[in-house]
Amino acid sequence: MTVGKNKGMNKGLTNYGDDEFSLFHRKAFIKAMGYSDDALDRPIVGITNTFSDYNPCQGNVPELIESVKRGVMLAGALPMAFPTISIHESFAHPTSMFLRNLMAMDTEEMIRAQPMDAVVVIGGCDKTLPAQVMAAASVDLPAVVVPTGPMVVGHHRGEVLGACTDCRRLWSQFRAGKKDEDEMAVIGGRLAPSVGTCMVMGTASTMACIIEAMGLSLPMSAAVPAVHADRRRIAEASGKRAAEMAVSGEPRPSQLITASSVRNAMVVLQAIGGSTNGLIHLIAMAGRAGVPVDMDAFDRLGREVPVLLNMKPSGSQYMEHFHHAGGMPALMRELEAFLDLSAPSVSGGAIGDAIARAETAPGQDAIRTLAAPLKKEGAMAVLHGNLAPRGALIKQSAASPELMRHTGRAVVFESVEDMTARIDSPDLDVRAGDVLVMRNAGPKGAPGMPEAGYLPIPMKLARAGVKDMVRISDARMSGTAFGTIVLHIAPEAAVGGPLAIVRTGDRIELDVEARRIELLIGEAEMQSRLAAWKNLPPHREMATRGYAKLYEDCVLQADEGCDFDFLLREGAAKTKY
Ligand code: FES
Repeated sequence: MTVGKNKGMNKGLTNYGDDEFSLFHRKAFIKAMGYSDDALDRPIVGITNTFSDYNPCQGNVPELIESVKRGVMLAGALPMAFPTISIHESFAHPTSMFLRNLMAMDTEEMIRAQPMDAVVVIGGCDKTLPAQVMAAASVDLPAVVVPTGPMVVGHHRGEVLGACTDCRRLWSQFRAGKKDEDEMAVIGGRLAPSVGTCMVMGTASTMACIIEAMGLSLPMSAAVPAVHADRRRIAEASGKRAAEMAVSGEPRPSQLITASSVRNAMVVLQAIGGSTNGLIHLIAMAGRAGVPVDMDAFDRLGREVPVLLNMKPSGSQYMEHFHHAGGMPALMRELEAFLDLSAPSVSGGAIGDAIARAETAPGQDAIRTLAAPLKKEGAMAVLHGNLAPRGALIKQSAASPELMRHTGRAVVFESVEDMTARIDSPDLDVRAGDVLVMRNAGPKGAPGMPEAGYLPIPMKLARAGVKDMVRISDARMSGTAFGTIVLHIAPEAAVGGPLAIVRTGDRIELDVEARRIELLIGEAEMQSRLAAWKNLPPHREMATRGYAKLYEDCVLQADEGCDFDFLLREGAAKTKY
């Protein structure tokens, strides 16, 4: 298998004003690594390397790269791994979301700059897969996604533990005085017992599932644990497939990210009890292919598509159980009535082909049936109202049923810092039926839209046994969290969204069934407060240099995927603030 002009090593030559010299020069240098002319004459499959000592979610990347390389070479092409930025949730300041677009840009430019005919992107931690798909869609080079896969579960005193739903649950117990520091230290060593991504239905698992549903990864790619041999076999098969695509030149991401596949992803997002972050990332990935995502259509699907996956935080099981139950093909078989089965897959056929081969696992309880779902409605509802003119999101599958319709007194925090400083104060005037409001935590406000929307229950209420309250903000929350929490309010407070003018003592009404979130102060008062806000000086320090300045100037709101305005492909919506 040899390549022609503008393929393999001949592709994207460095500009020295003499193409023949550029190729000679390139080959002379790469031969320093011991490559033969035979190797350098093959189609090239690039492989992203996101390994980092800071990133346990990508801890198996070296083995996966080795497996992908084996697959590429079995198919007669040349694998070339290259580094890109690596982002881990716990090691990214101010937030990993702040850096997602940087990772997408870095990955896109490295794919563009270096000669490759197809690419395998290997990633897992929350922002990695969306950034990689955004990049691949922007270049529109044939691409196969290989998720790093979920961790296996942990165990503590007879209980099964999972990062990080149980991190939060057990931390709440610690705050309420039900666990001591010694036990928490032991638990800290058991919550994440292997490399790989969080094994609950957090953002990482959500993204792996919807990416498989969109046909961007091979069947079964989402759920196989990171440390299983099957994970490496999937990597090998992905390498082989990428080598074929390097020759044929298709399917390209633009052939896979279509209105049909985006709708399929929305169905799956509702049915898996997916992370709220999943919607932001889906909008961003689709935006790079010029496919707009209709939030109201997503909400309507939520009324029809039940939650079928019995996984934390909505249910009780973990990703490895989902894998043993048949993974995504088995789940999608159950969802057949809602899906476009003809949507193409990177595997070469259609989504329906993988479903037809789906396993049946007797006795499993990870994938429920349409006749006996985990929840009758989908995971998420899109809210509107005078507090969220461009929408807000609630993960109703992980909320308290008794709070789904609730009116309460607002207790307002100006920022994440203000909330952190005051939430546990014994002097805080807060009661169980109040609505906790936090603002200036959106895409621009914080900046980076931190996962701070899961406001802790104030200490004095937690100790009195209060487990949940209505909490609203322009922030995000971890997909692993549980509670009656309204997120992603758009526009955010920092750009003058109505959240900016809520005062402590105002009454707020949440009605999830009616899809409403309202500030009950009357239209005249609302307009007068909004007009006054506009005349205030900026509430925050504006970035003046570097990536932070680019982010400040260009980041879009949550309902537009928080991408940069200049990176969307024609066709996707954008509103500049
Ligand atoms: Fe990486 Fe959860 S911290 S997936």
